[in-house]
Amino acid sequence: MTKILVTGGLGFIGSHTVVELVNAGYEPVIVDDLSNSNPKILDQLTKIIGFTPVFYKLDLSDEQAVKNLAAQQPDIAGIIHFAAFKAVGESVQQPLKYYRNNFYSLFNILNAYEGKQINLVFSSSCTVYGQPDSLPVTESAPVKPAESPYGNTKQIAEEVLKDIIAAGSKFKIISLRYFNPVGAHQSALIGELPIGVPQNLVPFITQTAIGKREKITVFGDDYDTPDGSCQRDYIHVVDLAKAHVAAFKLMATDGFTGYDVFNIGTGQPNSVLEIINAFEQSTGVKLNYQIGPRRAGDIEKIWGDVTKSKNKLNWQTELDINTMMQSAWEWEKYIANNPL
Ligand code: WQD
Repeated sequence: MTKILVTGGLGFIGSHTVVELVNAGYEPVIVDDLSNSNPKILDQLTKIIGFTPVFYKLDLSDEQAVKNLAAQQPDIAGIIHFAAFKAVGESVQQPLKYYRNNFYSLFNILNAYEGKQINLVFSSSCTVYGQPDSLPVTESAPVKPAESPYGNTKQIAEEVLKDIIAAGSKFKIISLRYFNPVGAHQSALIGELPIGVPQNLVPFITQTAIGKREKITVFGDDYDTPDGSCQRDYIHVVDLAKAHVAAFKLMATDGFTGYDVFNIGTGQPNSVLEIINAFEQSTGVKLNYQIGPRRAGDIEKIWGDVTKSKNKLNWQTELDINTMMQSAWEWEKYIANNPL
């Protein structure tokens, strides 16, 4: 079986991608430092896929540790590099922590497998676009100055990957620019597990619905959008996970060489207030929310043009906003009754 190294594989997106890799007949090998994930997710994955994947607890910013990993796993054919710190606000407060971890981790992986014919999928982000000049945003839109050190690490990482391909690397590389991943696996056995107070909208919604949070604050309703609240492209995490399988299939074709980048979203905007309404409509749970001031660093609106992903990656989303909200809610109820 084709072995795929999944760095950050016990995280929210990583764990859902492990499931879709197995469904597609790949053999995942998980690496995670557990700095932002729960080791019991490995047990949850076992319940879903029927076996326990090989797992290494490992800090990818430790060069020798990564070299040892590559020596133990010389027959890796593909790599998905999720592992990175990703809290936008925290990156502004602690930039060096973010530059060190996110770059050392990437460089160590690239160095450890240099010279091998590896198909690499890089976890990038719509954050690289900043506030686009026109919407929906296409992959050819100009990359704008990053709004945070986190966004900067994604922008620079994409440049590093393009440069190594231009220098003749044997790698094939695809960067996937995620929009806003939400929801949970249909089993409700894995989902988003924020540590502490959720930064992201949907886990804050579900924690409010379950009673862990008193109310939601909508960060601003005075934006230039139909209802005044920010617009984003929310995508079901399972659809996003399947895009990684599509990326490996594309890189396995003779026609693919070098480097490419794809938007991974639905192509449809939803505002904060529309998400709150969608949650209430799809779950029957009334939410307590208030309108508050804008959050520093937020962009006003962004959603992706996914034409290239549909035509070249041969991938498009299948799950709608109601399924996103219902699955997120089922996961919140599961975790409330089965704390990990
Ligand atoms: C969405 C909207 C908030 C919480 C995320 C990731 C980022 C990147 C893109 C991967 C915004 C509003 C939120 C709340 C609110 N993903 N909001 N009240 O900021 O788009 O970025 O997706 O790279 O890493 O962080 O997502 O869920 O934080 O916010 O009103 O309590 O919800 O202002 O408009 P964001 P988010």
